Amino acid sequence: MPQPSFDVHLPEDHAARSLAADARAGLTANPKTLPPKWFYDARGSELFEEITRLPEYYPTRAERAILAERAADIAGVTGANTLVELGSGSSEKTRLLLDALRDAGSLGQIVTLDVSETALREAAADLAAEYPDTPVHGVVGDFTEHLSLLPGDPTRLVAFLGGTIGNFLPAERAHFLTAVRDTLKPGEWLLLGTDLVKDRETLEAAYDDAQGVTAEFNRNVLHVLNRELGADFDVTAFDHLSRWNAEDEWIEMRLRARTAQSVAIPALDLTVEFAEGEEVRTEISAKFRREGVATELGAAGFALAEWWTDPEARFALSLAQAD
Ligand code: AVJ
Repeated sequence: MPQPSFDVHLPEDHAARSLAADARAGLTANPKTLPPKWFYDARGSELFEEITRLPEYYPTRAERAILAERAADIAGVTGANTLVELGSGSSEKTRLLLDALRDAGSLGQIVTLDVSETALREAAADLAAEYPDTPVHGVVGDFTEHLSLLPGDPTRLVAFLGGTIGNFLPAERAHFLTAVRDTLKPGEWLLLGTDLVKDRETLEAAYDDAQGVTAEFNRNVLHVLNRELGADFDVTAFDHLSRWNAEDEWIEMRLRARTAQSVAIPALDLTVEFAEGEEVRTEISAKFRREGVATELGAAGFALAEWWTDPEARFALSLAQAD
């Protein structure tokens, strides 16, 4: 069995340190915030998998439908040798691309990057087993910081799927796209998944399902703070909220304190006070329009070559080429 190779760009205590820094900054700010990346411990990743199968949560199915329809076109247009997957959690959809590149005869290498070393090692081993003729290289790193270290031979195709770019604030998006562009040579490719602006009801329901899975996913961040920082959040004392922000065109997930309470966070030597009804913003998930995506890609040094949506125009895949 072929073995993947690995680069580790994150020190072992990276997660612990950055969680502490993020929690301190976010919970002492006004209004309070927590970054969405901390949802994804083992339980949070399971809950997210469950979310992708919920009737209300259309993005995963819509993106998969586009990929199934267009993977051969993507392989044909790019002739890519190296597929670089940002966030190994999307491996299942990446397989549609890998199969198309293999069938087209261009696939030479697979690179997969993730912050979680455990998730990455698992994903890389699975890929190596399924594509035994193709070297697999895993990179443990943060896709907002370690893009310049991506290996692979031209022509590379970087896939950033799932609409995860929507979890960045606009300035973070610009920074991210520029960093991807800077790691590529002219002519190389980015495949970007973006959820699209639509009616408030559909969007709010996608982030507040009837079964309460998303509510549990949202509250999971408090379990993470309890476990990792010794905090004493009463997780049941917070309500889950999903709100469409029409001005910024993003969904906000928030946790609202049902009563006034104070929470001790020993690892931060900090006590956080919540007023009754006070909210913590735990995620933004921006929704896009074609114009805006083309403009943001252009500003980062990409040209939008193809724009594909699912039949109901709920989600889009953009294929962009580095200038
Ligand atoms: C990680 C970007 C795919 O923003 O839709 C799902 C995470 N949050 N339900 C998104 C999420 C709440 C998700 N992505």
